[in-house]
Amino acid sequence: MPVRACVFDAYGTLFDVAGAARIAATESGSESGAGAWANRWPQIAQDWRRKQLEYTWIRASAGVHADFWQVTEDALDWALEAAGLDGNAALRDRLLALYRDLPAYPDVGATLAALRGAGLRCAILSNGSPAMLERAVASAGLDGAFEAVISVEEAGVFKPDPRVYALIERRLSRPPAQVAFVSANGWDACAAAGFGLRTIWLNRGGAPVDRLHARPAHVLPDLAPLPDLVRSL
Ligand code: LAC
Repeated sequence: MPVRACVFDAYGTLFDVAGAARIAATESGSESGAGAWANRWPQIAQDWRRKQLEYTWIRASAGVHADFWQVTEDALDWALEAAGLDGNAALRDRLLALYRDLPAYPDVGATLAALRGAGLRCAILSNGSPAMLERAVASAGLDGAFEAVISVEEAGVFKPDPRVYALIERRLSRPPAQVAFVSANGWDACAAAGFGLRTIWLNRGGAPVDRLHARPAHVLPDLAPLPDLVRSL
């Protein structure tokens, strides 16, 4: 069954989640009071992302939902405290402001244009709240690139709950077998494959595949080969 739509995860796939901490490290005065922040940002970015994802999984399995912005703030607070920077309110505010306007990866714009040019419908399915996603799409210059921006808030639970992946068929009126799902998050790609979506894992970091109940059918190192791959499915 040919693929008719291409649905993307957002954070880590389209938007560079390390961008906020990396940009903050380049700003003048970033080290003042922040304990050599310029050298410490990679660890803090990693902790921030790891805790953010852990909190989504824990909230989903505990049945205690909060939206992704709340989870993002909570994870940042953990990461800053772990780094001994929890008293730095200005740094916290700046990082959150930068997170609202994360940069897109350099391969995103051209890939979306090529997919649309090939007649494929493009959409986002993300843990992000509707407000976060609307802002991120606009600030990355991707307005008009997506037919639908689908937030897990429509299901009230985070990935990888199957009710989230089911939103795609509800919103695009296409069965999973006609949808290519692209995620740079290995666990998300495995779960989407298990749900029945035609899944492509964007393995930007060259990580081993996750050992879960299903595996993505395809693995790409970046987005450049995606239009040709999707056309061949
Ligand atoms: C998302 C998370 C998984 O955008 O990055 O859904």
